[in-house]
Amino acid sequence: MIKSLTEVGDMWINVKEKIPVAMTIAGSDSGGGAGIEADLKTFAALGVHGTVVLTSITAQNTTAVIGVQDVALEIIEKQIDAVAEDIGVDAAKTGMLHTSEIIEVVAKKVKEHKFPLVVDPVMIAKSGAPLLKPEAVKTLIEVLIPLAEVVTPNVHEAEALAGMRIKDLESQKKAAKKIAELGPRAVVVKGGHIEGEYSIDILFYDDNYYFFKALRISTKTTHGTGCGFSAAIAAELAKGSDVVTAVENAKKFITLAIKYGIPVGRGHGPINPLAILYKESEKYNVWREVQDAVKIIEESRYVFKLIPEVGMNIAAAVPYADSVEDIVGIPGRIRRAGKRALAAHPPEYGGSSHLARYILSILNHDHSKRAAINIKFDEKALKRLKAKGFKVSYYDRRLEPPEVKEKEGATIPWGVQQAIENLGNIPDVIYHRGDWGKEPMIVILGKDARLLAKLVVELAEELANEEATI
Ligand SMILES: Nc1ncnc2c1ncn2[C@@H]1O[C@H](COP(=O)(O)OP(=O)(O)OP(=O)(O)O)[C@@H](O)[C@H]1O
Ligand SMILES: [Mg+2]
Repeated sequence: MIKSLTEVGDMWINVKEKIPVAMTIAGSDSGGGAGIEADLKTFAALGVHGTVVLTSITAQNTTAVIGVQDVALEIIEKQIDAVAEDIGVDAAKTGMLHTSEIIEVVAKKVKEHKFPLVVDPVMIAKSGAPLLKPEAVKTLIEVLIPLAEVVTPNVHEAEALAGMRIKDLESQKKAAKKIAELGPRAVVVKGGHIEGEYSIDILFYDDNYYFFKALRISTKTTHGTGCGFSAAIAAELAKGSDVVTAVENAKKFITLAIKYGIPVGRGHGPINPLAILYKESEKYNVWREVQDAVKIIEESRYVFKLIPEVGMNIAAAVPYADSVEDIVGIPGRIRRAGKRALAAHPPEYGGSSHLARYILSILNHDHSKRAAINIKFDEKALKRLKAKGFKVSYYDRRLEPPEVKEKEGATIPWGVQQAIENLGNIPDVIYHRGDWGKEPMIVILGKDARLLAKLVVELAEELANEEATI
């Protein structure tokens, strides 16, 4: 007994020893959107232990900064020493460094403790308030930026650092190269403030350019994007990633955090650095949900009658799903085996691209519709679903425009859109009557795969009874 406890203890210590440590040297945002608050969430979400060196306290919300109090230089120094001398620092990032004096103290300590540093040259808050005194830009350039592993200016900051205007990709590239001449090992000029379909960040590193592109998200929850992005790079560096991988992962991370931001306040709401974590943590539960649903279907005596020629599938999405890989389904589908329904495989993420597309399309309109099942087309089944109060709609595959037909994976999003327009509402059930070589089909959407499985079992029983009484 004691031996096993010791083993557990040892394992814990080993695990603990492996946790990398990141440090944020930045201001506090009372609104919890940017600054050390965003950084610590980011560190935790990416699996590194976060430590804090507070440089300023800001009284801030989503619309404005209404007060700033700088922390005494001596305390800033001591915070860095306290962490570096005991816990150690695998990588650090700087955010708001309000004055030349603060920048100088931080630079001195970085040289002394020699940890890799990401410098986010914060100058102005999202709300427009200055976070760096104008005369301190020179100190930033001369004292801190040369020590950086990576520096991450937004377009306005890059203009100030490079002394040039940025209006397109070419000038963004040129500015990155010019800033690299100031001495950091790598520069990312972020594209959040350049208009266009994509938000493109350019990394200049080792004389090469790397481009990181994400669809621009139309949202107000962009408070803390720069903080979360630079903290994510620091977290990845702390874990031992090379610069290019660190920026690549940070870009994916921040895109999700923006997309699933927290809509609070009247201005720019906070990003949600935990989105990635919630998504991961639900993976097992959602997989179990689909496994249970399959069991309900396989145990039914009548469901086999509702299995289409092409097979039946049942699928469910994790929170924040944005790709087929975020949705569990059955690879090879559920097939008819005599008078039984039988799943070809255990559930898998990415196991049904067909139903995944229905779910992803409907989720854009209704967050509660995260599960789907398809059954054989049957007029009587449709009638019963309507009688149960489900909102039923349809699309006509024969009306599919050629440009949609040509594009891989475009039919279902188009069909769902048609079904919404045909009903003037978000349907629970979508059917189509097929086309040449395409079997007609009914898809039922809902909030839980188990409930959908039970519904289909019930429906199959009712139809069997109806048949028996005729
Ligand atoms: N609307 C958006 N859609 C997608 N990505 C975005 C959007 N806005 C910003 N980003 C991304 O977020 C990251 C931060 O870029 P941004 O240019 O917003 O930094 P910033 O201005 O320093 O942010 P902050 O105001 O929080 O300091 C970059 O990876 C950028 O491409
Ligand atoms: Mg910024």
